[in-house]
Amino acid sequence: MRNVSVVAAVPLFLAIHDPIEWFGAVGADRLQIGNESGGRRREALYRRLEGPHAIVGRTEMTPRCSRAMKPLPGWSAGSTYYFVFCAGIGKFAPAFLARRRFRRRMTAMMEKDRRTALASLAGIGLLVAGCAKNDADGAKKSEGDEDAVTANEDLMREHGVLRRILVIYREVAPKLVANPGAVDAAALAAATTLFQTFGERYHEQMLEEQHIFPIVRKAGGEAAGLVDALLAQHARGREITAYILDRTKSGRIGTGDARALAQTLTAFARMYEPHAAREDTIVFPAFKKAVGAKGYDDLGDQFEDIERRTFGGDGFDIAIDKVADIERRLGLADLNAFTAPAVT
Ligand SMILES: [Fe+2]
Ligand SMILES: [Fe+2]
Repeated sequence: MRNVSVVAAVPLFLAIHDPIEWFGAVGADRLQIGNESGGRRREALYRRLEGPHAIVGRTEMTPRCSRAMKPLPGWSAGSTYYFVFCAGIGKFAPAFLARRRFRRRMTAMMEKDRRTALASLAGIGLLVAGCAKNDADGAKKSEGDEDAVTANEDLMREHGVLRRILVIYREVAPKLVANPGAVDAAALAAATTLFQTFGERYHEQMLEEQHIFPIVRKAGGEAAGLVDALLAQHARGREITAYILDRTKSGRIGTGDARALAQTLTAFARMYEPHAAREDTIVFPAFKKAVGAKGYDDLGDQFEDIERRTFGGDGFDIAIDKVADIERRLGLADLNAFTAPAVT
């Protein structure tokens, strides 16, 4: 009889409440979702529920949610027995309280998860903004880099300046032998001073000897085998530079010094032409390969910084202006004058 009354309470309960909601609420509060039997039916129940239950029904549980759903031993949310128990023996109040407690807990969890998600989105937003800024910076750098040069390009165009001084030396040498009084000693001294400041103290000492040669030597190979000779030529070049400046410091070149000075200028050019050519074709490419793409970029920036600190601006532009002025003073400014005569 008692069983009959219990069963009879079920239709009454169904008429008054949505049993699925009640059942689902109580069951969800008691049981960990997705681990026990009756899962398919329970999923269907939860899917009908709104709010946090819907999330529970999809069993998309955070660890905190899973802990909240710790099962009550002996109960299964999918069992008719539990449903009848709740409906038939007057457990509406406990069920209601459990449902409300569950919803509060789930709401709190969802809110916390929502804030976490928003924080994550904000983080993603910042990341995207950062990426966008980096892209913008990259684009800006690319635009600004139209005039920028790579490390090796920088080194090689510096060689260009030095080669123009070597041309001066080669052109002046025979004129010294022929008529030393006709040579502008001050202009020759200016060329040598430029080689000293731009070539020896900056290009050789600050870049090649401090950065390029140690890297190339460590990397080994053909370029490493050239370093000792290159260093010896740097040293010999400085001796010659000091000699030229000494012989030109009075503003005129004495007849007794002319021939020796001419020979020295020619010897210097003969030494430095293959020197720069080996660096351009063997040493600098080896340096680029040894440091890798990023190291190459970084050192390029570092070289530019050194150049600006040393000369107070673009050292290359300053040197080009100076060498062009010296060429004019010595009558060597016209490129056409260097065109070889026709073959006869
Ligand atoms: Fe060098
Ligand atoms: Fe060099």
